Amino acid sequence: MPKLPLPPVPEKLRPTPKSPGSAPTRKPIEQAKEAGISAVDWVDERTSLSGGMRWVMFRKVPKGTNWFYTLGSACMFAFLAQAVTGVFLAMYYSPDAAGGAYESIRYITNEVFLGEFVRGMHRWGSTVMVILVFLHMARTFFFGAYKYPRELNWVIGVLLLILTMMMSFTGYLLPFDQRSYWATIVGVNINGTGPFVGPFLSDFMRGGAEFSATSLSRFYAIHMMLVPGILGLMMGFHLYLVAKLGTTAPPWLKAPVDPELRKDRV
Ligand code: HEM
Repeated sequence: MPKLPLPPVPEKLRPTPKSPGSAPTRKPIEQAKEAGISAVDWVDERTSLSGGMRWVMFRKVPKGTNWFYTLGSACMFAFLAQAVTGVFLAMYYSPDAAGGAYESIRYITNEVFLGEFVRGMHRWGSTVMVILVFLHMARTFFFGAYKYPRELNWVIGVLLLILTMMMSFTGYLLPFDQRSYWATIVGVNINGTGPFVGPFLSDFMRGGAEFSATSLSRFYAIHMMLVPGILGLMMGFHLYLVAKLGTTAPPWLKAPVDPELRKDRV
C-alpha cells in the first residue's frame, strides 16, 4: 500500500512568527494562545507525540462519508461514559451478597447526591451501547467494510460485540434484587447448555456448582476490571487498524477506472 505523506500541522496550531518589538503589544488572548502552543511544543520536543497524533487525527476520508460513519465513534463515547459513571458507582457499591450489595444500591439511588442520575446514566448507557454496537456492525456489513483488507478488523469487531454483551450480562446481577438474581441464574443455566465448554463456563461464572456469595464478587471483578480492560485494549487495536487502513467508501460510489486499463476492454 502506498505511504501518504503526513498532513501539515493545522494553521491554528502554528505559532505566529515572532518579531522583536511586537511582544508588549500582543493581546492577552494571543499571549494565552502562545503559552498553550509553547506548552504543547515543550511536551512534543520531549516525546515526539505530535507525529502519531497527526497520523491518527488528520486522515484522508473517502468521498461520500456520511453520518453512518459516526456510529463507531458513538460506541467509543458510550464506552467512555460507562467507564466514567462506573467509577463513581464503584465508590459506593459493595459486592456483598448478604444484603450489602442491595443496600449499597439503595443508598446510591436514594441518598447519594446525583446518585440516581449517575446510576440511571450507567443503566441506560449500557442499553444504548449495545444498540449502537449492533447499528455500527450493520453499517460495516452493508457497506462491505468486512472485505479485504479489513477482515481482521471485522474479527476484532466480533470480539468487541461479545465483550459488550458480557459487560451487560455481568452488570445485570450487581443490584442483587430478585429480578437480577433470577435473571442471572437463567442466563448462567442457558450458558451451561452450550456444547463442550458450556458447563465449565457456567461453573466458572458461579465460582462452583451452586450460586453463592462468591458468584457476586466474581461477576463484579469480571464486570469492572477484566472485561473493560480487554475491551479498552481491543478498541485500541480496532482504531489502530481503522487509522492504518482508512475507512471504506460507500458502496454506491464507483471507483475511477484507469483509462489505460479501459483500452483493453473493447
Ligand atoms: C465497542 C465496540 C466498537 C467500537 C468502539 C468501534 C469503533 C470503530 C470506529 C471508531 C470505527 C471507524 C469509524 C466508523 O467506521 O464508524 C470503526 C470501524 C470499523 N468497525 Fe468498529 N467498533 C466497535 C465494534 C465493531 C463491531 C461489533 C464490528 C463488526 C463485527 C466492527 C467492525 C468494524 C469495521 C469492519 C470497521 C471498518 C469500517 C470501514 O472501513 O469503513 N466494529 N469501528
